[in-house]
Amino acid sequence: MRKKIVAGNWKMNMDYNEGLSLFSEVINMVKDEVTGSQQAVVCSPFIHLHSLAQMAKGYHKVVIGAQNAHQAESGAYTGETSAKMIHSVGAEYVILGHSERRQYFGETNELLARKTDTALKHGLKPIFCIGETLTERESDQHFDIIKTQLTEGVFHLSEAHFEHIVLAYEPVWAIGTGKTATSQQAQEIHAFIRIEIAAKYGQEIAANTTILYGGSCTPKNAPELFAQPDIDGGLIGGASLKSRDFVDIVKVFN
Ligand code: 13P
Repeated sequence: MRKKIVAGNWKMNMDYNEGLSLFSEVINMVKDEVTGSQQAVVCSPFIHLHSLAQMAKGYHKVVIGAQNAHQAESGAYTGETSAKMIHSVGAEYVILGHSERRQYFGETNELLARKTDTALKHGLKPIFCIGETLTERESDQHFDIIKTQLTEGVFHLSEAHFEHIVLAYEPVWAIGTGKTATSQQAQEIHAFIRIEIAAKYGQEIAANTTILYGGSCTPKNAPELFAQPDIDGGLIGGASLKSRDFVDIVKVFN
């Protein structure tokens, strides 16, 4: 059976000490309160990764991820961080293709395909984000956009590599807006994504792929979203910055 995952994306928030206190609260609550087989992933800024990975040692339910990685192995790319470096500090996951990276840093599907290859090569599991903008939804292009993002971003992978991918459907119009997709809207896209995976890699791999929902997810709306048959957890922005809210979302699977 596929994994249930709740991943927090801190984005560019939390200085070093704030991040450590938030994470120690999360670990303590998860340890005492989370009983199911779900996994919590905390995707912090680079500066926290090593310390968080040390703190998470021994707690199998909480692992660490980064929010970006460069496509090159190493070299003269001032200011960038490689997948190998991220893996070396103990991170397991990396978010790739977030709409904020696509929008503000011009990341294209083609570039993201290269980042995915490099991340996998160095043992990181990509949480690969896809999702349409409001204009695209209103002009009824959302299925085409999702299909293109999948085809150009991850469908070049071998079966063995694709099995390490977690997908996250994040409608851009729902991110940070307080406007969540309804559980029906999200389920419709998640089911479509799973059909596309089945067409490319077969039923078994499709059934085993974890597909997260992201966009204004809160402890209040998570139970209904996560009850949908094709929604396997969430990618949480704002609510992951409050330990109580984040852990309450993780606990939806208890
Ligand atoms: P919010 O939960 O703040 O809407 O952010 C979602 C997101 O972008 C997670 O990657």
